[in-house]
Amino acid sequence: MIRAIKGTRDILPAETALWNRVEALAREVFVSYNYGEIRMPIFEETELFARSVGEETDIVRKEMYTFADREGGSLTLRPEATASVVRAYIEHRLWERPGLTKLYYIGPMFRRERPQKGRYRQFSQIGAEVIGSDSPAVDAEVLEMLIELLDRAGLKGCELRLNSIGDAACRPRYLERLREELARGRHRLCPDCQRRAVANPLRVLDCKVAADQPIIEKLPRMMDFLCGACRAHLDSLEQALRDRAIPYAVEPRMVRGLDYYTRTTFEFVHHRLGAQNAVLGGGRYDGLSELLGGPKAPGIGFSIGEDRFVLSLQESGVEAEQGALDVYVIWIGEEQPRPAQSGEAAWGAMARAAAFGHAAQLARDLRRRGLAVELQPEPRKLRRALEQASKQKARFALIVGENEIRSGRYPLRDLARGEQRELSREEILRALSPAGGAAPASPPAIPTHP
Ligand code: HAM
Repeated sequence: MIRAIKGTRDILPAETALWNRVEALAREVFVSYNYGEIRMPIFEETELFARSVGEETDIVRKEMYTFADREGGSLTLRPEATASVVRAYIEHRLWERPGLTKLYYIGPMFRRERPQKGRYRQFSQIGAEVIGSDSPAVDAEVLEMLIELLDRAGLKGCELRLNSIGDAACRPRYLERLREELARGRHRLCPDCQRRAVANPLRVLDCKVAADQPIIEKLPRMMDFLCGACRAHLDSLEQALRDRAIPYAVEPRMVRGLDYYTRTTFEFVHHRLGAQNAVLGGGRYDGLSELLGGPKAPGIGFSIGEDRFVLSLQESGVEAEQGALDVYVIWIGEEQPRPAQSGEAAWGAMARAAAFGHAAQLARDLRRRGLAVELQPEPRKLRRALEQASKQKARFALIVGENEIRSGRYPLRDLARGEQRELSREEILRALSPAGGAAPASPPAIPTHP
């Protein structure tokens, strides 16, 4: 049997209902903050990620799905989307459009990590980026928008962790100190960190190896090396968060695993997620556009891990209703006309054959009114068909047979209440259609028919 590849998975109904709800809500919130959607390719030139995310990061060193193109060149399935957004910003000269560039995206990312709860090799991100301002007011608005989204989704128990990792003015001095410190204790670190200590010492702080943690704990903190401008940016952001009554915790050791960050970095963690507890991460990348050959264009953004977001909603007891089945249309007869059996009136066979066509038309009319309708797929005894309708949790069963076609009145059964009434086609459409006054969720009471 062929199975889905390790670290990938199918999301099935009814879980997709919650995914769709989360995505619809995100779009609604983003649009209310004046973001537009960007759809980008799923693969890019490898160099885009190597340069933006950084050669020394775990993502680029170990986790990318990279392959040679037939025409030469190296391509990579995107491990994240910020690099692509900035690439598109430069390629389409988006700075020439009025106002800030505010974009959001929803889609799959690929990282070859060790799969576990909340960590997959194909996962989905819901992200947003603002390019064109370095004002801390933008940082505050981005964080407010995130809180708004998490609140509206009903996610409780998320904690905002914030840090500043400085900029091109102050970070070199910090890195120098870090290198000095690491040079002293490097031999006690894991092989990866021994290399990072020389090549990109900030990445030592991402190390997850338990034995390295006591050494990492004692390393100097970027927070204590911030220059005046970075300090003022952080102070101003913290003030804006207090003004908006947004709770947060400063986490001086949080550096995030990507090289493009400057100044503000943040994560939202959820206590129910276990080891992979970051629901989302983000930060500023004021130098990324220039690094990719674009103009000076400071930016900030975030990506929500949608898989983890949905998981933490489920852990918090939030569920989305799968679209309910409104009507199960039952027909009694045969699908194709057949010659009349001996002793059977010719019109009887024709009427039975007609029942399917008649039922199909009624089903189409109901569907056109926005109702969810299942048409019985093959001939069945009435009792069996009604059982099917109940199993599929239809609210109503509509029965179409010879007598009904002749009289033009059809039994419509409310399956939850066990009530049944005979109605004409027009009465049924009026009674059930949302446009007819009653929403499908609460149709008018249908009295019991003996
Ligand atoms: P990131 O922290 O690498 O940042 O990923 C953001 C979120 O994606 C994580 O917090 C997590 O929820 C989710 N995520 C990452 N890897 C996996 C995985 N293997 N399985 C499931 N979920 C995962 C970025 O990607 C940046 N582009 C964020 C950003 C946007 N910064 C500025 N703008």
